[in-house]
Amino acid sequence: MNPAEAGFACESAPLRGCRLLVAGCGYLGLAVARLAHATGWEVAGLTRSAASARALQGEPFRVLPCDITEASAVRALGHFDAVLHCASSGHGGAEVYRRLFEEGTRHLLEGLRPARFVFTGSTSVYAQTDGAWVTEESPAEPERETGRILRSAEDLVLAAGGVAARLAGLYGPDRWALLRKFLEGRAVLEEGGERFLNQIHRADAASALLLLLDPAVPAGIYNVADGTPVTQRELYAAFADHFGKPLPPAGPRDLSRKRGWTHKRVSNAKLCALGWRPLYPSFREALAGW
Ligand SMILES: NC(=O)c1ccc[n+]([C@@H]2O[C@H](COP(=O)([O-])OP(=O)(O)OC[C@H]3O[C@@H](n4cnc5c(N)ncnc54)[C@H](OP(=O)(O)O)[C@@H]3O)[C@@H](O)[C@H]2O)c1
Repeated sequence: MNPAEAGFACESAPLRGCRLLVAGCGYLGLAVARLAHATGWEVAGLTRSAASARALQGEPFRVLPCDITEASAVRALGHFDAVLHCASSGHGGAEVYRRLFEEGTRHLLEGLRPARFVFTGSTSVYAQTDGAWVTEESPAEPERETGRILRSAEDLVLAAGGVAARLAGLYGPDRWALLRKFLEGRAVLEEGGERFLNQIHRADAASALLLLLDPAVPAGIYNVADGTPVTQRELYAAFADHFGKPLPPAGPRDLSRKRGWTHKRVSNAKLCALGWRPLYPSFREALAGW
């Protein structure tokens, strides 16, 4: 992504030469690493496996295999001014969450002691089901154990003066789970489709995380969402229109969702107050180019 697109002036970037570690150089982490490199940070990325690190050897920054659940491996990484925890649990359950998010966060915080730490969390910690707007001040009391582990990782980060970024459903090039579901005929309008969905395009999530890595930005919790919640029905109707396909059938709530069944609208006002603006203020701008 062009740095100017993300609202950063590369030439005047005050963080040029500062050392950033992106722990978890996957779908989102790699986008942040590329953007940070383009804006003048000295970037290093981590993957868990050697194979993933090898696949990124063509990047203009170092990518190393290092499992952040291993304290000694993290301690050996050296000095970084800022650290982004952007590693994903894949399809793991509570035990994987605990190791990756709680222990991994503790190892990065205590082993590297960066001036700035940003944790990539999730808006799934808001368990609200009444369709209300939620801000960073709203109760975040997840029902699932995985959600409670994310909250406790956030607490570690906040106690250390860092940032907890709560991301809405991530989508972008080559990965849009809701669109894939729709195109594969697996989508269902749950109880008529009135449930709100909150999304964030990868390019916008990356620019938000980069902004939050700036130590001049006040620490704390930030929602990272496009600010245009849509109902399931609105989303699938737009897909149906765009691809010339029928609306999905109605069905019951999917209560098997890993991060719980919620119905809420996530506010991004606090992030926007920092001057951040999404390139994709709703999914419609992204869909237009699909
Ligand atoms: N997808 C969403 O809708 C969504 C929503 C909210 C928040 N998030 C959060 O966003 C973050 C990034 O997600 P993503 O979709 O970009 O993930 P991803 O594409 O699955 O990439 C995960 C990266 O983390 C690395 N990793 C996993 N375990 C690690 C470990 N123990 N030590 C070091 N690196 C490790 C992986 O390396 P290998 O390739 O070697 O395994 C990979 O590079 C995650 O924290 C996720 O929870 C995602």
